Amino acid sequence: MLKIVLASNNKHKLSEFQGCFAQKGIEAEIIPLSATGFCGDIPEDAETFEGNAYIKAKTISDYTGAIVIADDSGLCVDALNGAPGVYSARYAEGGGDKANTEKLLAELKEVPDLPKTARFVCVICAVKPNGETMYVRGESEGEIVNTPAGENGFGYDPVFYCPKYKKTFAQLTDEEKNSVSHRGIATEKLADRMGFFADSKS
Ligand code: IMP
Repeated sequence: MLKIVLASNNKHKLSEFQGCFAQKGIEAEIIPLSATGFCGDIPEDAETFEGNAYIKAKTISDYTGAIVIADDSGLCVDALNGAPGVYSARYAEGGGDKANTEKLLAELKEVPDLPKTARFVCVICAVKPNGETMYVRGESEGEIVNTPAGENGFGYDPVFYCPKYKKTFAQLTDEEKNSVSHRGIATEKLADRMGFFADSKS
């Protein structure tokens, strides 16, 4: 079976990708970054999701020589001119999901307009051992709610309201989130382009 290294140490992302691969019928095993022995830091200093996804995928591709995918993702809030965007993981000083979410809600307190429209973005960059790259992008539209709700997921999920299910992402089951999420949509596009990997079975 095709083996693909996921260039991320985020356990939530790993399990979401595994769920998405299964739901989209992608016949590939996802190898966690932790299994590769890589323990360096990857600087995510690009100004676009594409740029950061490429840095992560290329670094791990050079290290492993394997087929690698990396995603860079984040939340873009219209009333904040697209912030936190590529800075989503380190929006608050000290970082952490709770601190990031609290900062987001604090910033939005000053914003009178409702609804507070936003979207999650996920760009996946795939790199083959021969250096060829491919990108897919998924976006999921929603709104930011003032009061966090739900226990599932990670990051900003408790404050991201999904119109289709009339619940926050943190109130969805894994399957429901994968069916509407930015990561799920990007994975669906990846599923359509699996031919990209055809000449580089590993
Ligand atoms: P990355 O690991 O550099 O791509 O940063 C992604 C950050 O965006 C995470 O740390 C979260 O703050 C946020 N994020 C990305 N995807 C999701 C999601 O599915 N739910 C909630 N937050 C997310």
